[in-house]
Amino acid sequence: MKKLIIANWKLNPTTLKDAQKLAASISVKAKNKVVLCPPTIYLSNIQYPNIGAQDCFWADKGPHTGQTSPAQLKDLGVKYCIVGHSEKRETGDTDEMVNGKVKACLAQKITPVLCVGFGTTVEQDDLEVTDVLKKQLNVNLAGVDASQVVVAYEPVWAISKGNPYLTRAADAEHAEKMAIFIKTRYKAGKVIYGASVNVNNAKGFLSQPNIDGILPGGVSLIAKDFNQIINM
Ligand code: PGA
Repeated sequence: MKKLIIANWKLNPTTLKDAQKLAASISVKAKNKVVLCPPTIYLSNIQYPNIGAQDCFWADKGPHTGQTSPAQLKDLGVKYCIVGHSEKRETGDTDEMVNGKVKACLAQKITPVLCVGFGTTVEQDDLEVTDVLKKQLNVNLAGVDASQVVVAYEPVWAISKGNPYLTRAADAEHAEKMAIFIKTRYKAGKVIYGASVNVNNAKGFLSQPNIDGILPGGVSLIAKDFNQIINM
């Protein structure tokens, strides 16, 4: 079974030329299904079979300065859109806003990649983590057919600052338990894991039966390592 690997480039690289070079260096014949999520400004200039966005607005058009809508993403051929990333929640995205974004994506037949795990800490046990996830998912998935959504479990404390070899990822066994919880309680279509995935730990996540893929950030910018991961 192919796993889903979604590359979150975040605010990198700083030139279109480098973005195109990076995209061109990622294998299009990988063993797993790969989605590249470059910065919004490069979306129409990156060639790759599956392209995703890193965020969107909840309305399709209107007086909303600086926003990008799912309708516009759809028009560019974007198939996936990350919503609710902890780096967006940190700068003000509420659970209600995230719910609006999930619904707006689905209305355009774009698969939302709903990130949860903001507010979790490394000290929490599984039960405490599921409490945080419940609070987010109850609102984020309200009125949504969750079978159409990819939920990304991203324990915020494990997300790298850019170099996923310097931070500790969550245990694959813990991530698997959270995936089972999210699937059982919310009937999410797919559950993937993200936060400090690298060449050394990716296989551990990809071999869990209930983890359907991964959402690598920092390592997705290192073509050699990323190409290795997508073929695991
Ligand atoms: P990281 O980022 O792999 O660099 O930890 C993952 C993410 O924030 O989506």
